[in-house]
Amino acid sequence: MVTLRVNGVQRSYDGDPAMPLLWYVRDELGLTGTKFGCGIAQCGACTVHVNGNAARACMTPMGAIEGANVTTIEGLSPDGTHPVQRTWRDHSVPQCGYCQSGQIMQAAALLEEHPNATDEEIDAAMTGNICRCGTYARIRRAVRAAREV
Ligand code: FES
Ligand code: FES
Repeated sequence: MVTLRVNGVQRSYDGDPAMPLLWYVRDELGLTGTKFGCGIAQCGACTVHVNGNAARACMTPMGAIEGANVTTIEGLSPDGTHPVQRTWRDHSVPQCGYCQSGQIMQAAALLEEHPNATDEEIDAAMTGNICRCGTYARIRRAVRAAREV
């Protein structure tokens, strides 16, 4: 049995401890904002927060997160007004949208830990999040702007 909190709600999980957190949040909790891209921690589409740190849910086994606090894009802000979400809208970042919840969760974790992250630190933190639509310039502008919000 694994107990954890997801978006502030206490949960328990009794299945295969090897099952990825990504399947748990999507298939068992219906939190489909977190996306499957590569399944091998190479794209960032599945990024969530585990105890405040950005984590690739596709490679996070349920058995490894006993007692953890998990936040998905649905739980980042009750009304979509997290600073990163606001600057994302201001800069019209998304194109198809598929990668964007992962991008936002990655950026939010960075700024939570480093509110005054340098441009170089932002680029380094975001480099593992792939966008097939090539929205990188807008992502960069939005993360930089979120430092000021
Ligand atoms: S689906 Fe997890 S990193 Fe690509
Ligand atoms: S907005 Fe389409 S993959 Fe990033």
